[in-house]
Amino acid sequence: MNAGDSLPLGQHDVEIQGNRLAWQRKPQLRAVYRGFHELIASRIDRTIPGLIVELGSGMGSIKEVIPDCVTTDLFPNPWLDRQENAYRLSFADGTVSNLILFDVWHHLRYPAAALSEFRRVLAPGGRVIVFDPAVSWTGRIIYGLFHHEPIGMRQPITWDAPVGFRPEDSDYFAAQGAATRIFWRREAPGRLVEWLSVEVAPLPSFEYFATGGFSGPQVGGAAMARLWRALDQALSRWPDLFAARLLVVLKRAQ
Ligand SMILES: C[S@@+](CC[C@H](N)C(=O)[O-])C[C@H]1O[C@@H](n2cnc3c(N)ncnc32)[C@H](O)[C@@H]1O
Repeated sequence: MNAGDSLPLGQHDVEIQGNRLAWQRKPQLRAVYRGFHELIASRIDRTIPGLIVELGSGMGSIKEVIPDCVTTDLFPNPWLDRQENAYRLSFADGTVSNLILFDVWHHLRYPAAALSEFRRVLAPGGRVIVFDPAVSWTGRIIYGLFHHEPIGMRQPITWDAPVGFRPEDSDYFAAQGAATRIFWRREAPGRLVEWLSVEVAPLPSFEYFATGGFSGPQVGGAAMARLWRALDQALSRWPDLFAARLLVVLKRAQ
């Protein structure tokens, strides 16, 4: 896939079904994802009344760590709670306390349109928690070489949906660098004025790279996991060089 390419939306569901098979045969990947989900869980603000919702849940594995999370996706797969499209959510105004997007932000072609819908459903002070690829120098090499989706660091960001856009007509879009550009590099801070930035944390994760993700080969066995973690800890001082994952916590300004 190249930057700007458009694939049918159903490509997501093809990947979800393939990922479920990989999930069964990759214990290290499951362990790393558990750690990621725990990190996300630690950023949920439970003092805000309302639902904890994940958009683009895919396999729905977040429930193993956050059992009360409402899992959703574009596709009504039987293991999920609801079918939802980020651009037009079925939640009433102000009824969601925390909205989680794990590897979903980089699939949103129109980020401003999605943010405006997130703001509508969130309670005052509610959070958007984004967990997405971080395109550091290492990230650029590894995601660029080994992942099928484009990084898209140079193409213009199409913030707003065109007039007459219908969410059900969305296509498969991917720009792995989207969260890096918007939240870490802050290419257009004026677009985020309705949000307070609680946290933007670029994190090294050779532990994640070593799992090979859903489609690549694993590097080293389970015994290596502790070493990768120690390496990630040591490299965390140089996020520009080594970050692999970006954790972003936004709060809805009043
Ligand atoms: C890379 S997968 C991530 C799945 C899961 N969160 C995980 O981490 O394993 C991206 C997911 O986002 C969903 N998605 C893409 N565009 C979306 C949209 N506009 N609204 C809701 N979900 C969307 C896809 O269907 C897919 O399940």
